[in-house]
Amino acid sequence: MEYLASDARYSQMLYRRCGNSGINLPAISLGLWHNFGSVDDFKNSQQILRRAFDLGITHFDLANNYGPPPGSAEETFGAMIEKDFKSYRDEMIISTKAGYTMWPGPYGDWGSKKYLVASLNQSLKRLKLDYVDVFYSHRPDPNTPIEETMTALDLLVRQGKALYVGISNYSAEQTEKAIQILRSLGTPCLIHQPRYSMFDRWVENGLLDVLERNSVGSIVFSPLAQGLLTDRYLKGIPQDSRAAKPHGFLQQNQITVEVLRKIEALNALAKERNQTLAQMAIAWLLKDSRVTSVLVGVSSTSQLEGCVDALNNLSFSLIELENIEKILAMRIE
Ligand SMILES: NC(=O)c1ccc[n+]([C@@H]2O[C@H](COP(=O)([O-])OP(=O)(O)OC[C@H]3O[C@@H](n4cnc5c(N)ncnc54)[C@H](OP(=O)(O)O)[C@@H]3O)[C@@H](O)[C@H]2O)c1
Repeated sequence: MEYLASDARYSQMLYRRCGNSGINLPAISLGLWHNFGSVDDFKNSQQILRRAFDLGITHFDLANNYGPPPGSAEETFGAMIEKDFKSYRDEMIISTKAGYTMWPGPYGDWGSKKYLVASLNQSLKRLKLDYVDVFYSHRPDPNTPIEETMTALDLLVRQGKALYVGISNYSAEQTEKAIQILRSLGTPCLIHQPRYSMFDRWVENGLLDVLERNSVGSIVFSPLAQGLLTDRYLKGIPQDSRAAKPHGFLQQNQITVEVLRKIEALNALAKERNQTLAQMAIAWLLKDSRVTSVLVGVSSTSQLEGCVDALNNLSFSLIELENIEKILAMRIE
C-alpha cells in the first residue's frame, strides 16, 4: 500500500539543537545496525521506518557495514527511499559512516582518504541518494594521520556528497584534535557519536566536556545497552532477542548475575516513575543537555513507540538519581 506520512508527525517529538549548528535533531533517533539487514524481515523493517517517521523521528543512522551482510541495511533503506520516502527526503537527516572492514585488501577499512571516498560513493549507490546529511569517520585509525581522515571528510562535503561531518568512537583527546583540524579546513564537526548508557559511562570522563566547550553536538548509541536496559531479559533469553540471534552483537555471557540484579532493581525504580526501564534509561541520558539525541535500535514498532513515550517524563528527583547511582555501583562477587 502506498505510504502517506501522518499529518501529526511533528506534534509529539522533541527537537534539540545539535551544537551551534543550524540542525535540530529529534531527541530520539533510529539506528539501522540490527533488524534492517537482508537477513531480517523487510516488511517489519518497513513498518518500523514508517512508524518512526510518523512519530517525528527525522534522523536515521546507518553505516556501510550494517546488515548482515554488510551493506544490506543501506540497501533496505535505499529501497524505502524509492518506495515510501522519496517525497519526504528534505524532511530527513540520513547519516552513514565508514571505518570498519568493508571489502578485502588494504583499502577497505580504517581511515584513509582512499577508503572513505570510495566507501561513501558505494553507500550513496546502495542508499539511492545523491548525498547524505552526515558522513562519519566510524572510528579513529591509529595508522593514518588524523589530518588525512579529516581532509577526506572535508573533501566529501566540498564534493556535495555529504552536508555535514561527524566522528564516532574518538577519545576526548582525539576529538579535540579532530574538531580543531575540521575547523581549520572550514568544515566544522557537527556531531560525535559515542556509546553511552547507564552501563557504559566513559563519555563522562572528558568527552562531553570537550564537546560542550567546542559547541559540538552528540548522539549517543546503544542507550539501552543493546537491550539489557529493558525488561527483555528479566525472565530469561527470549528466542527472538538480540542475545539469541546468531548475528546479534550482544553476547549471552554479557547477561551476568550482577547485570540481572541491576536490571531488576532499575526496573523496579522505573515502575515507581510509571515508566518502563527502557523509557527511564532514555530519559536518564536526555537529562544532560550535552546529549543532543539518543540513538535507539528497535526490533518492532511497539518497542519504538515505547521508546518515544520516554519523552512523557524526562525529569528526575535527586533521590531517584541517587538511587540509580547506588544500583549501578552494586557489585556481586
Ligand atoms: N557508531 C558506532 O560505532 C555504533 C555502534 C553501535 C550502534 N550504533 C548506532 O546506534 C544504534 C542503536 O544501537 P543499539 O541497537 O545497540 O541500541 P539500543 O537501543 O541500546 O538496543 C536496541 C535493542 O534494545 C531492545 N529494545 C529497544 N527498545 C525497546 C523497548 N522499548 N522495550 C524493550 N526492548 C527494547 C531491542 O532488542 P531486541 O532486538 O532483542 O528486541 C533492540 O534491538 C544502531 O542502530 C546504530 O545506528 C553505532
